[in-house]
Amino acid sequence: MGKFENSYKEKLTTAEGIASLVKTGDVCASPMCMGEPLDIINAIGDRVEKGEITNIVQNCNFVAPGKCYEKPEMFGKFDYISWFFSASTRKGGQDGRFDYMQANYNDFPRFFDMRGDIDRFFLVVSPMDEHGYFSMGAYVGEAMGIMRKAKHIYVEVNKFMPRTFGENFIHISEVEAICEKDEPIYNLQVGAPTEKDYKIGNYIADMVPDGATLQFGIGGVSGAMGEALKDKKDLGIHTEMFSDAMVDLIEMGAVTNEKKNINRRQSVSTFCFGSKKVYDYINNNPSLAMLPIEYVNDPYIIAKNDNFISVNAGLEVDFLGQVCSESIGDVPYSGSGGQFDYVKGAKMSKGGISFIAMNSTAKNDTISRIKPCLTYGAAVTTHKNEVNCIVTEYGVAQLMGKSVRERTKALINIAHPKFREELLFEAKKRNILI
Ligand code: COA
Repeated sequence: MGKFENSYKEKLTTAEGIASLVKTGDVCASPMCMGEPLDIINAIGDRVEKGEITNIVQNCNFVAPGKCYEKPEMFGKFDYISWFFSASTRKGGQDGRFDYMQANYNDFPRFFDMRGDIDRFFLVVSPMDEHGYFSMGAYVGEAMGIMRKAKHIYVEVNKFMPRTFGENFIHISEVEAICEKDEPIYNLQVGAPTEKDYKIGNYIADMVPDGATLQFGIGGVSGAMGEALKDKKDLGIHTEMFSDAMVDLIEMGAVTNEKKNINRRQSVSTFCFGSKKVYDYINNNPSLAMLPIEYVNDPYIIAKNDNFISVNAGLEVDFLGQVCSESIGDVPYSGSGGQFDYVKGAKMSKGGISFIAMNSTAKNDTISRIKPCLTYGAAVTTHKNEVNCIVTEYGVAQLMGKSVRERTKALINIAHPKFREELLFEAKKRNILI
């Protein structure tokens, strides 16, 4: 710890000690789940439950299970503003207890700027180095932006939080108090890709040239793409989320980052989510730059790499090409995340292509995800004028540069066969096809 050891010891307290500093009416924030210090948040919740403080607001992007504000009785006392609903906060969002921030991911820091000061910012960091710096490790995202607005900053030091490179360091002189907790960080369990995921992954891989730069999220299709891309050469990575599948592609030699126009020889990401494998890979690894979201998801930055391929998931698409990826009708499901940032960036990249992947049906083949109109109340995540390729297990509908009639035909071709006749009928009823 060197010359900062005394300062560290002076600031060291407990999660309860940090929670004791919170005052009624404070606006708080934390980074996404693996960066959100559970003990501090729950210690604040304990104080709220005892009636010591109230009217607290917590901003957080995506929450792992186990946070006190999941309890219904916290409503009105310890409120939560979600910047992306996770499985553990979806119900609270659907029954109205949690509020939701409308934003593309690259805008998060800008929107924090607009919303005024953050009284208290709590985050998990990796152990301090000899220069007095803590790394934010696996989650950077909007954290640097929040830091600029935070009046008081508190860190939970966790030896399991990887130390990463890039623009994600916080100096002990900026920190008001420290607590420690050594616990493996959140491990995301992802099911193995399905047969449909493999089909979708292969359709996309067929359109990925050697030397392309990639973004893809988590889930079955991403896992399948990891395998489908393994024989490609000189791929690059510039992605909001760095995952197990990307580690596989690097270790197989398909990713070299040599052909990128910017951040050459480095993968670029803003958060890592996955198993221990990905956290071990990123630890002290200079081949990965963990950078703030306002850089990583800026469409102009994304577009600087030629042949940018982005792959994200959707819930439904209509004949116009409007994609909903964040609600089931008017019921909130997740959030916009960075989907549109990458659709736009890939559109502006020379040779770039964006893909929105979805199974052709939902709920055991009872619902077609290709629809004449989006379900009533559905939020448009990807705009019709920006969308490019929609992929299902039946193929790719390339929509950019196509008329409504051409789009409708292309989409019906990749719908589940059992719905195609009905979709044709609906298209004719609307005079789209005559
Ligand atoms: N109508 C009714 N129900 C639907 C539906 C539709 N059109 N589409 C999906 N569903 C149901 C599914 O059946 C499933 O229900 P179940 O859990 O009971 O089986 C559920 O909704 C989730 O669908 P699924 O396709 O499995 O979602 P997913 O977990 O793969 O997540 C997104 C897909 C689109 C929600 C997710 O990728 C997301 O939030 N994307 C937006 C943000 C983004 O793209 N960020 C950038 C990448 S990190």
